[in-house]
Formats: sequence, C-alpha cells, structure tokens
Amino acid sequence: MKKQFVLSEGIKEKINSWLKKYPPEQVRSALLPALHIVQDAHKGSLTEAALEAIADYLQLPKVAVFEVATFYSMYNLKPVGQHQINLCTNVSCMLNHSEKIYKHLKKKLGVSDNETTADGKFTLRQVECLAACAAAPVCMINKTYHGNLTPEKIDIILEELS
Ligand code: FES
Repeated sequence: MKKQFVLSEGIKEKINSWLKKYPPEQVRSALLPALHIVQDAHKGSLTEAALEAIADYLQLPKVAVFEVATFYSMYNLKPVGQHQINLCTNVSCMLNHSEKIYKHLKKKLGVSDNETTADGKFTLRQVECLAACAAAPVCMINKTYHGNLTPEKIDIILEELS
C-alpha cells in the first residue's frame, strides 16, 4: 500500500503565498515553487506520493505535475545526499575543463553520475548550462554557485562542507 503524504499547514501556507500572485485560473504557475517548497521540506527529494499530494492541493491533473517534476533536473525523484553537487558540463564549462573537475569529483567521492556517497553527504550530478558561463567551469552546490573551478578549489569547498 502506498504511503500517504500529507502537506503540513506550514507548507500549505507557503504554497498559498505563491497562489496569491496569480489569477485563480493560472494555478499551474505556482507549480514550480510548490515543488521546491515540498522538496526543500523533505530532505531534498520528492516521492510519488508527494507529487500526488501537490496535484491534489493545486487541483491539477497528476500527469501535469509528474511531467514538470520529471522534466527539470532541479527536482529529485529519488533520495539525495545532504549536499547536492550539480556540475555543469555544457559547452562553456566543457571548454574550460569541467571534465577534469568531474573526474576529480567522481574519484574523490567514489561515485558516478547521479549517485550519493555512502555516508549520505554528497550527491554528484552533471547538469546542463547553469547560466553562469562567464565563470566557467561552474557548479551549484545546494543553492550556491561556485565558479572558476579547479580541482584544488573544489577540494576546499568540499572540506568546508564536511
Ligand atoms: S555552460 Fe556551464 S554555466 Fe553555461
């Protein structure tokens, strides 16, 4: 039997603050922030039951919520580590040696793409352009951008997070 997922009053209040920004017929506009709110409140990931609860609350078809949640890499549909390392490997970053950073991270953390370290601390993920190409190579760890990366710089960042 599927586990019931209940949106807390606090979460509903936060979602309601977004709903107020749009006309009633544009409820779908609050979907992206609603997904973020629920994800942030539940260890950084969204279960199927959570997506269904969001669909019910916003009175949207479940498929519409699932489509959005599965399209964007910023939503996690499986458990993630305490810190999520999203490393851009798109063109500008690739030309500035993001592959070297990626290999370094994989070796250092002992994980492959979209995997979490055994201690649950870090999840490593390659992502498309993070819109910060001027600072390539770039990664976003949780919600913070780090640019002009080198293996040495990423070591310092990880050390501070450990
Ligand atoms: S290509 Fe990496 S931030 Fe744009």
